[in-house]
Amino acid sequence: MSPSPGSPAPPPSGSFVAPSPEELSAMLPAYEVQRLVATGGMGAVYAGLQKALDRPVAIKILPPATARDGESIQRVRTEAKAMARLTHPHIPVVYDFDVSSGYCYLVMELVNGSTVHQLISRRELTPALTLKLLAQVCDALHFAHQNGVVHGDIKPANLLVTQDGRLKLADFGLAQLRDASSRAAASPTPMGTPEYAAPELWQPGVVLDHRADLYSLGCVFFEMLTGAPPQGHFTLPAAALHLDPRVDAVISRCMQPDPAQRFQSAAELQQALAAIRLSPVGNPSPNATARPTAHPTVRSLRHPPRRIPVSSSHKKASSSPLLWLLPIALVAAIIALLFKGKQAFDPPPQPLPSTAKPTRSS
Ligand SMILES: Nc1ncnc2c1ncn2[C@@H]1O[C@H](COP(=O)(O)OP(=O)(O)OP(=O)(O)O)[C@@H](O)[C@H]1O
Ligand SMILES: [Mg+2]
Repeated sequence: MSPSPGSPAPPPSGSFVAPSPEELSAMLPAYEVQRLVATGGMGAVYAGLQKALDRPVAIKILPPATARDGESIQRVRTEAKAMARLTHPHIPVVYDFDVSSGYCYLVMELVNGSTVHQLISRRELTPALTLKLLAQVCDALHFAHQNGVVHGDIKPANLLVTQDGRLKLADFGLAQLRDASSRAAASPTPMGTPEYAAPELWQPGVVLDHRADLYSLGCVFFEMLTGAPPQGHFTLPAAALHLDPRVDAVISRCMQPDPAQRFQSAAELQQALAAIRLSPVGNPSPNATARPTAHPTVRSLRHPPRRIPVSSSHKKASSSPLLWLLPIALVAAIIALLFKGKQAFDPPPQPLPSTAKPTRSS
């Protein structure tokens, strides 16, 4: 998935073959489609020009087969509506949505640059840049949440960064929209990308709320620092990367299984991020632990990944409980030996002289 010119990622096996820019230009005459940017879980994204206004655009299309399916069209319509509701410097502007020539398509502001996923792959993220970008994601998310939109698929490939470092939160394809009349949006089918999805997404009849996005953002924060999303028993990264321990506290709070224990708003999370000090001890390289892989969106989640944050000091101890017992057992053995030795070398106890006071004869 690349928004930069040059080499678009090949489509995943089994997915549709995206039309060439020329073919798509013929089908959408209002646009001059210039290049394929990326093929994603839903379709393909192209860069082009809106001829009437001579303005650069990104065009996201659904495969023709999917474009005949009402549910898929509804999803892209929801995406368009969510973006239309959100006029914000960190969210791409939506220009158009339509179904035409067999294609369902969404036209939006073109973001020239890289995704955060690409920045992680190229190891271009420092902790300072990570915090700067996350602050912008929080800005966009807080605005979306305040306007009744839960993003539903926060992950590095959906965070676009312009060449001059401005972040745009993209892909509202799984967004949940809450209207003024309804209190919350229930998600009949849990959705998202497993590596970043909050645990409540697997609960039947889940009512998705904005705190699911904050959980995902905690996973993204972890990945931006370490190079891979948190999996299984993972060690919180501050100690290894010589960072402010508040980094661990923020990730851990974002990733609490109970939404009530997480940050309660993106603004609150943003404040916690702003309090993190960047005075590293030593000079560890960013993204030191692993290289990331692409994480396609899974439209229906079935098996939650187990994720248990462990602080580095706690992990050493908890990962091998026998090590805890060893010193205790050793001390107990020494005391027992000393006690036995004392018994062996001490002279046998003599009968105590009678201490009975002489009774006064009356
Ligand atoms: N407005 C845009 N400007 C430039 N590139 C974009 C834009 N929107 C999306 N892209 C690129 O296209 C990719 C796929 O877009 P998007 O995430 O919206 O599609 P998707 O099919 O829903 O993908 P997935 O299901 O894999 O998340 C993004 O990762 C990004 O590289
Ligand atoms: Mg996406």
